Amino acid sequence: MNILVLYYTQTGQLRQIIDNMLLTVKDKASIDFVEYKPVHDFPFPWTSDQFFDAMPECVLEIPVPLQSFNIPDKAYDLVILGYQPWFLSPSVPTTSFLRSEDAKKLQGKPVITVVGSRNMWLNAQEKVKAQLNRIGANHVGNIVLADTNHNLISLFTVIRWTFTGQKVRSRFLPEAGVQTPDIEGSRKFGAAIYEAASSKNWAALQPQLLAQGAVSLKPTLIVLEKRGITQFRKFAVYIREKGERGNPERLQRVHLFKRLLLTGIFVLSPVSGFTAKLASLLKRKTFAKQLAYFKGVDYEPNVI
Ligand SMILES: Cc1cc2nc3c(=O)[nH]c(=O)nc-3n(C[C@H](O)[C@H](O)[C@H](O)COP(=O)(O)O)c2cc1C
Repeated sequence: MNILVLYYTQTGQLRQIIDNMLLTVKDKASIDFVEYKPVHDFPFPWTSDQFFDAMPECVLEIPVPLQSFNIPDKAYDLVILGYQPWFLSPSVPTTSFLRSEDAKKLQGKPVITVVGSRNMWLNAQEKVKAQLNRIGANHVGNIVLADTNHNLISLFTVIRWTFTGQKVRSRFLPEAGVQTPDIEGSRKFGAAIYEAASSKNWAALQPQLLAQGAVSLKPTLIVLEKRGITQFRKFAVYIREKGERGNPERLQRVHLFKRLLLTGIFVLSPVSGFTAKLASLLKRKTFAKQLAYFKGVDYEPNVI
């Protein structure tokens, strides 16, 4: 069995997730890991300006040139695409790969997406689904790992991680990002993946992965993501009127975005969380349908 793993990771977290996922598979299959990276890679840790200035191109899915990489010319039985959301959108390296010539090699191939996120990944996944659909790949599975700490706690820890590089727990705050037991626990998905790739019974895979907890999703997240991405799209266009990423002329608008985002997150989030909860309770049926859709691998345009 030949498996191709395509991914990008800044901190190594996503590679750890995929390594654990394939622990029980690696002796039974030949696995090629191919990492795609921008020619001018993104910094880690980030400065505040670099971080917020990255938003418009993430949201508008504007690719950057990638370093050359080689996808071996093999008949792959399965492709695993590992990626992370940035600003509710696929990370720029992921967008760049999906829009590259090399991505056409995924045509007709079964693809499992693996997401390593904080906890907001819905719109990013819809965009990745759209690209896989355009390429003609067969999207057969999706596994999402997220930080399971309370939303506000995970915000503090992700900020610490992003701007200082510290993932491990500190005196008052837990580990940032996906928790180590969850990273290690992703080995449980290996058997279902191997079974599906052997039998080619791809239709059975996502329900089986879901039964093992591959995607957990709260209805409030749907509301919050919709609200968030609508604002991001407007700001992305507004900031790009002043130039490309890195152009000092647009920094004033980037700073305005940063201030409004931080206010939205820390001041308004308890209120918006409450109204989102209310909305999900009032429209239970609609939300049940949406939850089922977002947990699955079917693709319908413009759902979010
Ligand atoms: C610029 C940037 C924006 C991010 N935006 C989001 C986001 O919208 N939703 C989310 O769940 N996580 C977000 N994250 C966290 C990442 O998805 C990811 O979990 C983290 O960067 C570690 O991934 P790695 O494998 O590249 O190290 C963001 C991270 C960065 C660097």
